[in-house]
Amino acid sequence: MSESPITADITYELCDMTEWDNVNADIAITDPPFGLEFDGKASNYNRDTSRVVDGYVEWESDTYGGKISSLLDVLARNTHSEGQGIVFSGKDNSHLVHQAVIDRPEWTLEGKLYWAYNFAPYCKLRPAHNVYELYWIVKGNDWYYSNECSYEHCQSGEANLSTLQIKRNYLKEMPKYPTRLPPKLVKVLLEHFTREGDTVFDPLAGSGAVGVVSAQQNREAVMGDLNEEAKRVFNETLESLAE
Ligand SMILES: C[S@@+](CC[C@H](N)C(=O)[O-])C[C@H]1O[C@@H](n2cnc3c(N)ncnc32)[C@H](O)[C@@H]1O
Repeated sequence: MSESPITADITYELCDMTEWDNVNADIAITDPPFGLEFDGKASNYNRDTSRVVDGYVEWESDTYGGKISSLLDVLARNTHSEGQGIVFSGKDNSHLVHQAVIDRPEWTLEGKLYWAYNFAPYCKLRPAHNVYELYWIVKGNDWYYSNECSYEHCQSGEANLSTLQIKRNYLKEMPKYPTRLPPKLVKVLLEHFTREGDTVFDPLAGSGAVGVVSAQQNREAVMGDLNEEAKRVFNETLESLAE
């Protein structure tokens, strides 16, 4: 996490995603569970599991499409009429995310971005899938987008937002939350898709990376998760920023 101070309101509720109503956010940026019985502790992840926190709530693969549809409903209820969303997906259930987006009348699929990252646990042993798909969804025609951010993909050469090459930062000293998003990735998305003062919503917040970086960038953050341990990691992150 960068050391920048928090400059906007930040809310983190321990609640089910379906409990949110009328947040009126400008954008939802959210990374759902994978639907893979994932807990971040499997031996093939090659990490010190004693530092991986418990309580990650996974979604069953056979009900995954329905869960994503319910998530899209939550995002629609909690963004304003010209709001937008960015929904992450790994490879295994990406087809279900795509289908759910097409099926939900509130949302239009405006585009897709790809986030390519280093996959430290596997990479020395065999090829591994290391690309996430980010579904960019919009409600109307008046969505906000800036075609330039402060990072190298916009500052040098030809801008290419379709494929973002951003390393995961495997923090050694902090408790590990499975699938914690890198702050740089969140910041790139904020600079392209939001303005200062906007409200950013993440009902599946985990360690709270989306909200913390938003509040560091002067965007109001509204977040939730069912996992108490996730909120503990979030609180520790805030404390370390305050030191
Ligand atoms: C992929 S993780 C998000 C990780 C997060 N982006 C980060 O940077 O740490 C998905 C999160 O959704 C939470 N979750 C699963 N089902 C939920 C539900 N119905 N309501 C709220 N949170 C839920 C899980 O506990 C998990 O923390």
